[in-house]
Amino acid sequence: MLLISIMMIVAYISGSLSGARIVSELMHLRNPSDYGSHNPGATNMLRVNGKFPALCVLIFDMLKGLLPVYLSYRLDISPFFLGIIAISACLGHIFPCFFHFHGGKGVATALGSMVMIGFDFSGLFIATWFVTILITGYASVAAIVSFLFAPLFVWFIRPELTMPAAMLACLIIIRHASNIQRLIKGEESKILVRKRH
Ligand code: G3P
Repeated sequence: MLLISIMMIVAYISGSLSGARIVSELMHLRNPSDYGSHNPGATNMLRVNGKFPALCVLIFDMLKGLLPVYLSYRLDISPFFLGIIAISACLGHIFPCFFHFHGGKGVATALGSMVMIGFDFSGLFIATWFVTILITGYASVAAIVSFLFAPLFVWFIRPELTMPAAMLACLIIIRHASNIQRLIKGEESKILVRKRH
């Protein structure tokens, strides 16, 4: 139990490292926490600073979820607690100890921490995200729909991980409450807008 507790703290600290703030600082770009949706994540980095910085944030935020889970896996921690460690990394992203507990939505970190479930899961998740964004244009809707389906995919692929996957999905969806309010009011901004010919 001591090892699991240590890895939960490691994951939380890893998750607290904000990719958006670090990348914008290193590249001398606008901090997405102060512009657009004010969310320190890859989507808002795309809105505020463009594709390459957004890709850097996406990779950084995925790695901070993946690495503590991978390390815990190598330390022979059981699958259920790997899920709890994944949730700890996402809690770090959402409530970062280094940034006054004001963090992001946890989508990339959650995906990174779930990559180890398998390529089949990752493929299904990413396909769901892409199909939804192609249909709606909203990153938030794509995230919400993907996380609604994620526990179902996990149930088919690794049933013993369904509970932590469902907990993680609930956390991410609840974190999108402000996006849901903006969607209802018609104020959410699309990241994919079809050109009219
Ligand atoms: O991945 C975050 C996305 O789902 C919403 O981001 O900036 O539109 O609040 P944003």
